[in-house]
Amino acid sequence: MSDVLELVDVSVVRDGRALVDEVSWSVKEGERWVILGPNGAGKTTLLNIASSYLFPTNGTAHILGERLGGVGTDVFELRPRIGMAGIAMAEKLPKRQTVLQTVLTAAYGMTATWHEDYDPVDEERAKAFLDRLGMNEYLDRKFGTLSEGERKRTLIARAMMTDPELLLLDEPAAGLDLGGREDLVRRLGRLARDPYAPSMIMVTHHVEEIAPGFTHVLMIRQGKVLAAGPVETELTSRNLSLCFGLPLVVERVADRWTAHGLPLN
Ligand SMILES: Nc1ncnc2c1ncn2[C@@H]1O[C@H](COP(=O)(O)OP(=O)(O)OP(=O)(O)O)[C@@H](O)[C@H]1O
Ligand SMILES: [Mg+2]
Repeated sequence: MSDVLELVDVSVVRDGRALVDEVSWSVKEGERWVILGPNGAGKTTLLNIASSYLFPTNGTAHILGERLGGVGTDVFELRPRIGMAGIAMAEKLPKRQTVLQTVLTAAYGMTATWHEDYDPVDEERAKAFLDRLGMNEYLDRKFGTLSEGERKRTLIARAMMTDPELLLLDEPAAGLDLGGREDLVRRLGRLARDPYAPSMIMVTHHVEEIAPGFTHVLMIRQGKVLAAGPVETELTSRNLSLCFGLPLVVERVADRWTAHGLPLN
């Protein structure tokens, strides 16, 4: 299996502080990773490296076999191979564009409003992704009028549009109600178990949001890796407690995870 992502001693330093601190991590083809860590741990910064939009201060990063910042690596060729759904992307998209246009424009590497005619094949693809995410009744709705959950599902469909080899999701379930979260976890679970789906990396704060089918977990705290490996061996009460800095118990219930603090007494 080839490496989708390989970071060796990667640091990102800003104002003399390491936001990401000597991280070595590799993601192989077909693996589905969860990144867990408290606020400010460096999760989004890591995703920004994986999306090729941020270059490390130190260390080397290979993405889909290309060295970031290397001679001969063209990030503009690399970027369409990576799908990214996160808050930063949502803010760049025009609010008056329809849901269908929002997904379609991704095929042309655009965030701007659509004026040209587009390929009917692309339109069918966009509709298929939206359908897969339960958004087929919203095709003509303005992106800016969507609820949080509908917006997140649209962004995931958009990220899929370029048929990426690597799919990056930054807190896809944040802000969703319980039903919305469960619906998204189910859809992400289906995607995670689909052998034709891209390699996936999902950032979250909550183990309850880990869909069945996710295979690996990376835990970070203050920019440093605390644990990295298969969910079964690494998602332990000990690791989670160290990661979030308080005593926690993590349990597996059927094919899902749950975590809570210890009772006070
Ligand atoms: N350009 C920057 N300059 C200085 N500090 C930055 C910059 N970008 C991010 N940071 C800081 O780096 C740290 C890590 O940020 P990052 O966004 O990666 O955290 P995170 O783990 O995604 O947190 P959250 O769970 O809150 O989204 C934070 O303390 C943040 O304030
Ligand atoms: Mg973040």
